[in-house]
Amino acid sequence: MARKPDYGIDAPGVIRNMFIAGALFLVVALVFPKVTIGPLVFLLIPGFFWPAGWFFLTGILMLIYALAGKFRHRERMLAKVSWNSSEQVLDVGTGRGLLLIGAAKRLTSGHATGIDIWNAEDLSGNGPEGLKANIAMEGVGEHTTILSEDAQKVSFADGTFDVVLSNLCLHNIYNKPGRAKACSEIVRVLKPGGVAVISDYKHVREYASEFTKNGLRVELCSLDWTGTFPPLRMLVARKTA
Ligand SMILES: C[S@@+](CC[C@H](N)C(=O)[O-])C[C@H]1O[C@@H](n2cnc3c(N)ncnc32)[C@H](O)[C@@H]1O
Repeated sequence: MARKPDYGIDAPGVIRNMFIAGALFLVVALVFPKVTIGPLVFLLIPGFFWPAGWFFLTGILMLIYALAGKFRHRERMLAKVSWNSSEQVLDVGTGRGLLLIGAAKRLTSGHATGIDIWNAEDLSGNGPEGLKANIAMEGVGEHTTILSEDAQKVSFADGTFDVVLSNLCLHNIYNKPGRAKACSEIVRVLKPGGVAVISDYKHVREYASEFTKNGLRVELCSLDWTGTFPPLRMLVARKTA
């Protein structure tokens, strides 16, 4: 049977913990529906059902994004670029190639490069082998290159790329100077006239201010509550020609 590309589950450990926490609250609510202290009776069920529901719902919404919502989100991001099919594209934190492959499908003479450091906890099955399998199944091998590189220091010359993309990557750099360095690397490798489309669930205003500081024109989009969870925000940053 033909295998299908697998773009992985984002933050699988977080989703697992949501379901474990939900189940624990549910068990406590069912096993100890009330506590009696002397003449006082405390009903625990409402107090424990609410957090159980919250954890389950969060886990389910994160799964829906990972299995379906991210494909729609990818199209929204790629639609921010006016493609002419000859672009040089960089996907920062490509994972299993969601944006890299989406971009490569829009290219004829252009080329898409994906970089990553392959954090296992950020995406299920994360690694170059899974990405290579997806590239082969999607038939974009000719138009793609993958490299193991950290977003904070990339090997490309100044002004290499027409388009830089990144989804749910930069927040994984846990300190502000590191995220600022990654933003300045994106600015450095963008060609004059190039565009960066960056999406994340937090710190997006911080990235916007870094790009503005580095001379880019930034458009901040509104949070997407329709199929992304946690809701993602995109920014589009343009380098003057
Ligand atoms: C949640 S995954 C998202 C993958 C992909 N962009 C997508 O939307 O499906 C985050 C990715 O960022 C990568 N990553 C985290 N920190 C990074 C860094 N400093 N440099 C490059 N990649 C990084 C992780 O290894 C992981 O593949």
